[in-house]
Amino acid sequence: MRSFGRFALVLAAFLALVAWGASELFNRQAFAWAERDLAMRARFALEGARPALAGASPAEARRVLDALVLDERLMAASLCLPDGATLVRTFGYPAGFACGRLPPEALSAAAAGWDRTAEGTSGTVHVTALPVGGAADRRVLVLVHDMSFVDRRAETTRLYTFVAFALVGLVGAVAAAAAARLSWISWTTQLRRMITAPFRAAGQFTTPRRFQPLVADVRDLLATLAAEDAKAGATWTPERLRHVLRRNLGGEGVIVVANREPYIHERGADGTIHVTRPASGLVTALEPVMRACSGTWIAHGSGSADRETVDRRDHVRVPPGQEAYDLRRVWLSREEEQGFYYGLSNEGLWPLCHMVHARPEFRSRDWETYRRVNARFAETVAEEADGPDPIVLVQDYHFALLPRYLRERLPRATIITFWHIPWPTAERFGICPWEREVLEGLLGSTVVGFHTQAHCNNFLESVDRFLESRIDRERHSVVVGGRETLVRPYPISVEWPSHWAAETAPAAECRAEVRRQLGLAPDVLLGVGVDRLDYTKGIEERLLAVELLLERHPAWRGRFTFVQLAAPSRTVIPAYRELNDRVAALATRVNDRFARDGWLPIVLLRRHHEPPAIFRMYRAADLCYVSSLHDGMNLVAKEFVAARDDLRGVLVLSRFTGAARELSEALIVNPYDVEAAATALATALSMPPEEQEDRMRAMRAMLSELNVYRWAGKMLLDATRTRRKDRLATRLSPGPGAAP
Ligand code: G6P
Repeated sequence: MRSFGRFALVLAAFLALVAWGASELFNRQAFAWAERDLAMRARFALEGARPALAGASPAEARRVLDALVLDERLMAASLCLPDGATLVRTFGYPAGFACGRLPPEALSAAAAGWDRTAEGTSGTVHVTALPVGGAADRRVLVLVHDMSFVDRRAETTRLYTFVAFALVGLVGAVAAAAAARLSWISWTTQLRRMITAPFRAAGQFTTPRRFQPLVADVRDLLATLAAEDAKAGATWTPERLRHVLRRNLGGEGVIVVANREPYIHERGADGTIHVTRPASGLVTALEPVMRACSGTWIAHGSGSADRETVDRRDHVRVPPGQEAYDLRRVWLSREEEQGFYYGLSNEGLWPLCHMVHARPEFRSRDWETYRRVNARFAETVAEEADGPDPIVLVQDYHFALLPRYLRERLPRATIITFWHIPWPTAERFGICPWEREVLEGLLGSTVVGFHTQAHCNNFLESVDRFLESRIDRERHSVVVGGRETLVRPYPISVEWPSHWAAETAPAAECRAEVRRQLGLAPDVLLGVGVDRLDYTKGIEERLLAVELLLERHPAWRGRFTFVQLAAPSRTVIPAYRELNDRVAALATRVNDRFARDGWLPIVLLRRHHEPPAIFRMYRAADLCYVSSLHDGMNLVAKEFVAARDDLRGVLVLSRFTGAARELSEALIVNPYDVEAAATALATALSMPPEEQEDRMRAMRAMLSELNVYRWAGKMLLDATRTRRKDRLATRLSPGPGAAP
């Protein structure tokens, strides 16, 4: 309706302009006609009066002139002599046209006649001067005609023209609107009929050929939009994620490819097999998604009892006791693990992507192994896929080449690749000797996701620098070889509500138990750090901050203990072993310096901890310090918040984590600035309970919205759109035998 109003307004303005132009043109023409008409009338008048004027005395001539001006258009008349003298004139003759004021050429008896249109005191007049004629007659008859009738006629013409155009415009607009409406109704009716039309028994769609691609896509789009509209603003849950998957991707489950498996079977020293859950942010995030979606998780089988616990197809149902999805294990030889996992992935790509001053090591034999293992995993995905277009979620820097290998095998697959660690600047990325292959590998994906826009920008810059490509910065995508890959930020998160939190005892119980285990006196406050022993986590800087706190704030000596849960990680790599030694030495040094009467400032627990023990620690702590020097997201920060349903505890968080962008109510620190970090620890320890609650409530509200189901859901929805677009493009491109 609003658009019709706008159309009518524009049409009216246009017609007014045309009407004005037309009436002006017409009036100008009418004026010229009137002038010609009056000049002619003047001549007729003279012809009629000439016999009476011949030899007439002034009194007789005056009578003749008075008779002439009885004509309603003729206002006045006079008889002049060529020298400007007035012989006689009618009553009220305008002084402006007196004989003396007329130009000499007007009064020349020899002239054929003279006429002018001029502005008189009572409006426009037309003046004609004509020689009376005759042998010795030098008199000139001057007639003044009233032209105001022409002005009046022009006004009337203008009015009629406007009215006529207004009527024509109105009728035209109504007719055009009615025609448009009718054709829209007919088009949409036809389309709606197509969209809602039943399928034939044979599965043949009854839509006319020209509508086929369009209708199917509109039908899909409507369904998605309706479903999404209904849910707009609703929180993401496992059910909603499942719904998106089924409804939009028609998937019977997804295939996840990640190097780390979510459940590891280990044979203990006592000979029994037990299951462990690895310390991995990736596993923390993906595992709840897989429980929601079901499908298959393909991973390296790294546990000592992994081979014994799979079936003939190398599958095992997990989670143990609540089987929801399949774990497919891939076996790697020692050399493969060395080259692929330790070598290229963790000595090459890991330090390349983290700005922590660790030097990347790139060895070509590692690269060869990396390629081989990526190809092996691509083969495994193809084996696990039910059809030609599976939904595959490729995880992390271990599998940069897999998307491309998979695309070659399954061109119709929907491949969503998520890079869990930062992406470096293009300049730094150029350190990698195989930069082109890595980028081309990743661009085999439908979607490549990072935690932050900054990482996406770095990636796009790298593509720009090293590949022949078209980057669409509005759509956030890259086109290489005619294929488009979306490159977008999807900040990862944790499940909400956390099932681990739900299974953990209330905070008071956790506090009592943990404090008893650690032998803490009642007035000692507890800080916690939870990490793999990795040089990116800033564990040394963290312990230094604790040391400085005790140095600068002696009141906390004997009243604050920091527990560091440190899971040994990648210990084959020298840099990790060295870190392990340095951290142990540092903890010992700080303890030697401050320990007293059975109180230790630092408790370093270097072993693997299962989630229940970690959640107990989160709940017992007064503060949690996450001091990463560079971290894609860091889910320890989010897990700590998810655990604190008592709204207590303070999060001290490094600004170099992706999490710091979302958890802004944490105390945000620069971990390199040990002074500032020590001050932040002191602030956290003395923060009033109300402030703790306010901050924790805000962070929990944020997490409940930005949970891991949303992370996965958003990626799936973006992939859905691309998949539809590709299908539409395939159907619209003329196939063999298609009409030209
Ligand atoms: C990081 C990586 C993950 C990895 C985890 C644990 O979070 O992004 O891919 O699983 O570290 O490391 P690990 O080498 O033990 O798998």
